[in-house]
Amino acid sequence: MPTKVIQVDPLEPDADAIAEAAAVVRAGGLVAFPTETVYGLGANALDAEAAARIFAAKGRPPTNPVIVHLADLSQLDTVVAHWPAAAERLAAQFWPGPLSLVLPKHDRVPAIVTANGPTVAVRMPAHPVAEQLLRAAGVPIAAPSANRSTGISPTTAAHVLRSLSDRIDLLLEGGTTARGLESTVLDLTVDPPRLLRPGVIGPAELSAVLGCQVVVADDLQHRSLGIRSDLGSGEGLAKSPGLSARHYAPSVPVECVEQGGRTRVAELCSQGLRVGWLCWVGTSAVAQGSGPYPVEQIVMPREPAAYATRLYAALHRFEELEVDRILVDLPPAEEGWLAVRDRLRRASSPA
Ligand code: TXA
Ligand code: MG
Repeated sequence: MPTKVIQVDPLEPDADAIAEAAAVVRAGGLVAFPTETVYGLGANALDAEAAARIFAAKGRPPTNPVIVHLADLSQLDTVVAHWPAAAERLAAQFWPGPLSLVLPKHDRVPAIVTANGPTVAVRMPAHPVAEQLLRAAGVPIAAPSANRSTGISPTTAAHVLRSLSDRIDLLLEGGTTARGLESTVLDLTVDPPRLLRPGVIGPAELSAVLGCQVVVADDLQHRSLGIRSDLGSGEGLAKSPGLSARHYAPSVPVECVEQGGRTRVAELCSQGLRVGWLCWVGTSAVAQGSGPYPVEQIVMPREPAAYATRLYAALHRFEELEVDRILVDLPPAEEGWLAVRDRLRRASSPA
């Protein structure tokens, strides 16, 4: 059945629409809704059957746990077994907001939500639609990004429909999401805390609030900053399931270059490929309009937050245009670009 779509004002959503969506969640159904990061695919986090529907709809492997969303701190009681002082400090500073904290799980959370693991990721989203849905549902909501497993996360309702059109019960259409990248995921079950997925809240901000240096997962540094890893494969810290390399991948092959994008685009074009080029302000068109294989160019902002907001929409656009190859001029290997580079690296890693 095609998904029912209800348009809502992102800042002041209609109470009837929220009530309808909340009823779907309480009845064990699936609701897609906007958060400040990306659209989520939500189900009652305390209902194993409902949570199983998320995995089925996304084609998500059961080894990849989902984030549990909360309306307020009172909902923590049924979700986490232990709430350390570090979590209290981080929540006071960053919640509601794009930070997911990995903590020991409460028995009430079904095993499927945490992929059978002893920990659960929790966050409180900063979006009026998400907040009001959570409040009206009265239960914590498990919600991964609302896309097929390994696809690009959705930043608009149209993106959700492109990949999950007939697989959800209700979609609250509430505009474009502001942040554009998924939340930062921080593991607080290890000491010192470990960054499992970079996001708009960076390691320096987290470290400042915690009063200790956050550890950046080894393979993440390696991938995103271009830092060589000392650890051989299979050694070192256990990986987060979400760190599996190919996690945010468009259906079109993606190639990233540190420099020389223009030359590479010309090369690909001369091989007869239609190229989508994610480039920078100030880069002039390469083969625009010339030759039989036009380049589709999307010019990106030079500021990390603005870039992040537009990244997934650009990748979705190239998919729609059915280019043969996406060529990305990588942003600099600096901490401010950690999250963006992480997503681009994942998008370009081989299947
Ligand atoms: O911004 C976001 O976080 C969005 C919105 C909808 O809230 N959600 C999202 O969910 O991105 P998802 O499922 O696409 O990504 C969740 C990430 C995955 O990398 C997953 O492996 C990791 O969080 N994760 C979830 N629970 C975990 C746990 N207990 N331990 C370690 N990593 C966990
Ligand atoms: Mg996802």
